[in-house]
Amino acid sequence: EQATKAGYPHFMLKEINEQPEGIRETIKRRVDENNLIHFDDINLGKEELKAIKDIYIIACGTAYNAGLQGRFALQKIAKIKADADIASEFRYSDPFMDETTLVILVSQSGETLDTLAALREAKLKGAKTLAITNVIGSSIAREADNVIYTWAGPEIAVASTKAYTTQVVVFYMLSLYIAKLKEIITDEDYTTILNGLNEVPEKIEKIIAQEDKIKAIAEKIKDCTQGFYLGRGLDYSVATEASLKMKEVAYMHTEAFASGELKHGTIALIEDDIPVVAITTQSSLFEKSVSNIKEVKARGAYVISVTQENNKVVEEVSDEVIYIPETDDLIAGITAIVPLQLLAYHVSAMRGIDVDKPRNLAKSVTVE
Ligand code: G6P
Repeated sequence: EQATKAGYPHFMLKEINEQPEGIRETIKRRVDENNLIHFDDINLGKEELKAIKDIYIIACGTAYNAGLQGRFALQKIAKIKADADIASEFRYSDPFMDETTLVILVSQSGETLDTLAALREAKLKGAKTLAITNVIGSSIAREADNVIYTWAGPEIAVASTKAYTTQVVVFYMLSLYIAKLKEIITDEDYTTILNGLNEVPEKIEKIIAQEDKIKAIAEKIKDCTQGFYLGRGLDYSVATEASLKMKEVAYMHTEAFASGELKHGTIALIEDDIPVVAITTQSSLFEKSVSNIKEVKARGAYVISVTQENNKVVEEVSDEVIYIPETDDLIAGITAIVPLQLLAYHVSAMRGIDVDKPRNLAKSVTVE
């Protein structure tokens, strides 16, 4: 087993470190040397796309959180109405679907039963289906009308890391592809976003190089029993995934909140020294986010900010700042999760938890 961990103490840490490689491979499979994105094998040509009026993204756990970023990308870039829902809930809301609906199923394993059941329901109702999965020939890959594979490589740790970032990258490539087909994106914007995606692996490497600093922060919060993650817009999706990581591998009760919603109840829970991770990568929302940080700081929170390199103001309102390399705001979510995967990992390891196999969890859930 030690050999397959390639010298890392845990698969989770190995897989966090494998993200640049997985993302490079996922992009390479779809983008040619002329910066053209190819999804020729999926049955979503110009005519089919024109007929699609809305998209449902359906998944469980971390894959659902990737879908939250995917929803953002599809709406912002491809200008299609998109919703994300949890697979186990989707069927019970009797969602309206017909041949103008595209249902995107996201699943690392391709075997999660709730996601598979949602896929079957979508097909019964006549919707078009597209799977984003990491396992070739998996049940979801076989049953969906179309498949886009992520090329993260095998993911062994129960907590998903590299599958998540590659799933998000697929959503961005798909959004750019649709926007170009629909002729709704300028060449300049297309190139900026695609170049941004191409630079993600290198930026993740720079974040991983800050591991000692993140470890020192983990040391400070390792005995806390609860914590919060705050974000607005795209940062809220990152908060959701970051919070899940801390719960599943470190057993710390954390919740993700949309920064603006904090004052409607949750702020009552903020007390001295409670860790609050504030994600502020979006420049247009920056002022509002800083004012939310001040609100929790004034109530004694221990604030750990994750922000872009240029946002020095955050230092004045935070106890700790983790900088991610400057990047286009639209895709900052892909890199912003990485320090928070590392934070959860180190808290878990410091607590002596079986990081790769946390209690009560399974890598693939095949019961409803
Ligand atoms: C389990 C795993 C999670 C995973 C979820 C969905 O709960 O513990 O890490 O995100 O299933 O799995 P999938 O294979 O469908 O992405």
